[in-house]
Amino acid sequence: MTNDKTLTSSGFYVSQEAPIQTDNPVPTPQAAPPDILRCAYIELVVTDLKRSRDFYVDALGLIVTEEDEETVYLRTFEEFIHHNLVLRQGPVAAVAAFSYRVRTPEDLDQAVAFYTELGCRVERRADGFTKGIGDSVRVEDPLGFPYEFFHEVEHVERLAWRYDLYTPGALVRLDHFNQVTPDVPRATKFMQDLGFRVTEDIQDEAGTVYAAWMRRKPTVHDTAMTGGDGPRMHHVAFATHEKHNILSICDKLGALRISDHIERGPGRHGVSNAFYLYLRDPDGHRVEIYTQDYYTGDPDNPVVTWDVHDNQRRDWWGNPVVPSWYTEASLVLDLDGKPKPVVARTDSSEMAVTIGADGFSYTRQGDDAGELPSWKQGEYKLGHQL
Ligand SMILES: [Fe+2]
Repeated sequence: MTNDKTLTSSGFYVSQEAPIQTDNPVPTPQAAPPDILRCAYIELVVTDLKRSRDFYVDALGLIVTEEDEETVYLRTFEEFIHHNLVLRQGPVAAVAAFSYRVRTPEDLDQAVAFYTELGCRVERRADGFTKGIGDSVRVEDPLGFPYEFFHEVEHVERLAWRYDLYTPGALVRLDHFNQVTPDVPRATKFMQDLGFRVTEDIQDEAGTVYAAWMRRKPTVHDTAMTGGDGPRMHHVAFATHEKHNILSICDKLGALRISDHIERGPGRHGVSNAFYLYLRDPDGHRVEIYTQDYYTGDPDNPVVTWDVHDNQRRDWWGNPVVPSWYTEASLVLDLDGKPKPVVARTDSSEMAVTIGADGFSYTRQGDDAGELPSWKQGEYKLGHQL
């Protein structure tokens, strides 16, 4: 790690600029990027629309704005745009689009110029790619992800005041995406060119970057780049108001005898400070339920850097991360609907350096490897579990 970072009393470092450099950058376009407001919706291809609808509507309580034989359009309680999630029946479970809302209609011209200059495939449809959305641009970005930008959108009723409709686990906003990419520094630099600000990252002492979180809206992130074989989608996250809403979702999944949808958590993140729960939908798409991160909107918001060996970075209580969370992710589609080939990560893997046979984690910085108490060390070593 570089020396311009300050160690805090919470065990992580802070700095003013993201301490991430790449020796393999995507060229910076001359064209200015579009002014992105926020992550707005994700389009998921699912292989059994009814099963997926049962999960997202009956179990998680998302609101159906509109649906037909092939597609379900869903939104959260506080949303006023047509949808935050599109479920579309298809042959291969995958992500068809990570969609962002931009500030003005003219920002779509900027998006076309920005990505065209990079040599990316760009497609624009005046009537949109999905119901409820107007003029839209879809691209295959330089990292291999299908990104969408739009401004025009059909407004629907914001149900925030309809407490008669709320369930104990009500999902109130789309919070963020999380993308898996082999080269996190390269991805981070590209996203900075697109106008994103880094808020947190995970590194080791040699400067290897394992993940980075970045935002447009003033929260910890609109998307994160997780190091791994990619391009793939790690998860999409919906927000609840309070921690107890997340516990209620766990209770409900147990009562429905579908607790096997729970992959990891509930718990408190170190990164982002948010309370979390990770679920897997019927196709294995990972969904995070997330609440109570912090405000990041000031221009001098400090960047937080975690040591990859700090076992509180991913879970503030030091609970271990299950291996599937590191290794499994969803395919993404090109603009023809074909799965993008997955490229292997060549930098060290976070799982290998923390919980693999040669990995180690610490609770207190300065402790030597192997100083975790025996009961805790077992949790972090594959093969130590009964
Ligand atoms: Fe997340």
